[in-house]
Amino acid sequence: MNIPFLDLKRIPVGIQNELVRTFRRMLEEGVFSGGKEVNLFENNIASYLNIPDFVSCSNGTDALEIALRLLNIGPGDKVAVPALTWVSTAEVVKLTGAELVFVDTDQDGLIDLDKLIELPLDHLKAVIPVHLYGQIAAMEKLCKWSKEKGIKVIEDAAQSFGAKLGNKASGAWGDIGCFSFYPTKNLGALGEAGGIFCKDEELMLRARQMINHGQSYRDKHEILGKNARIDSIQAAFLNVMLNYFDQWQIQRKELAKIYLEELSEIKALKLPLNCLQSQHSLHLFTLQTPLRDELRAILLENGIGTAVHYPQIIPKMKPYHDGKSYPNAQKISQQTLSLPLNPFLTKKEVLYISRFIREFFKNQKTSFAIL
Ligand SMILES: Cc1ncc(COP(=O)(O)O)c(C=O)c1O
Repeated sequence: MNIPFLDLKRIPVGIQNELVRTFRRMLEEGVFSGGKEVNLFENNIASYLNIPDFVSCSNGTDALEIALRLLNIGPGDKVAVPALTWVSTAEVVKLTGAELVFVDTDQDGLIDLDKLIELPLDHLKAVIPVHLYGQIAAMEKLCKWSKEKGIKVIEDAAQSFGAKLGNKASGAWGDIGCFSFYPTKNLGALGEAGGIFCKDEELMLRARQMINHGQSYRDKHEILGKNARIDSIQAAFLNVMLNYFDQWQIQRKELAKIYLEELSEIKALKLPLNCLQSQHSLHLFTLQTPLRDELRAILLENGIGTAVHYPQIIPKMKPYHDGKSYPNAQKISQQTLSLPLNPFLTKKEVLYISRFIREFFKNQKTSFAIL
């Protein structure tokens, strides 16, 4: 059996046909920037997330950079970012000229609030909690602290579209929420796409201008902006994909449940036990084991693709090196392994992958044996 980590060619034929029809309709209409599909997409997302408005944009990285610029963050300011995340979260801070302050994560890869709270507050202007793997950080506590201290919160909700804490969606807790609709995400386009939500209406207006060369109307440039508009074709595809989002979450959770059951007895594995919770928008099925690299190699030999999110913590990367240590983030980067988990995977495939993992651990020395 050959099981890729994620094979987007497996989008069901019925949906592929719907996407082709959508593209054909767009060709006939001839509107490839802005237009009704973009408006529809923004309305659809706002109503799905139960937020008053949504500004679509080119991708999640631009969304984060725009968020920082909307808050006038730049040289002389500091921004706190978890040590383990996709590089974009840190990259955008550097691009604005602000200084990065890394914070270790907890055992699950979310920003460690106790460590965040200990940071010196001088020049600390914002924090970017990252809702990694579809989880959501402890936003209630984080927002309370940041409000007291006058620190802005920009949520990186790139991996957590649809996750909720209470009734509030991830991305709707902080001052600004940033989203990615990169093809591998839970809600993925067939190309690049992203979006922004600002709690403050005035800021939302400026976000809309900023993604469009600082203009609200053609040739009326009011603020400094850029071209970070969403591609209309991607907006139209996302309008199709959003209809399947809930069903795909159900499927992901059914498959994750099988992994959890099949792998529960392996002592050497830390499983994502909270991933079936209703507030979790299941994106990646990440387990942790000290034998990560060996396990990964055996799975690959047997045709099973996996991924590592992420093999290196950001403060160890050349452009961001700070020489400090972040033990939890470091441990996760050395031990985490993402198993295939997507709605195009079958139960039979998940059972097959689980069997290989069990066999691998059975063949290890006693300290890593099955319970
Ligand atoms: C945590 C995180 N932040 C930011 C991004 C950036 O999103 P994009 O790839 O759409 O620029 C991603 C996705 O790649 C991500 O996973």
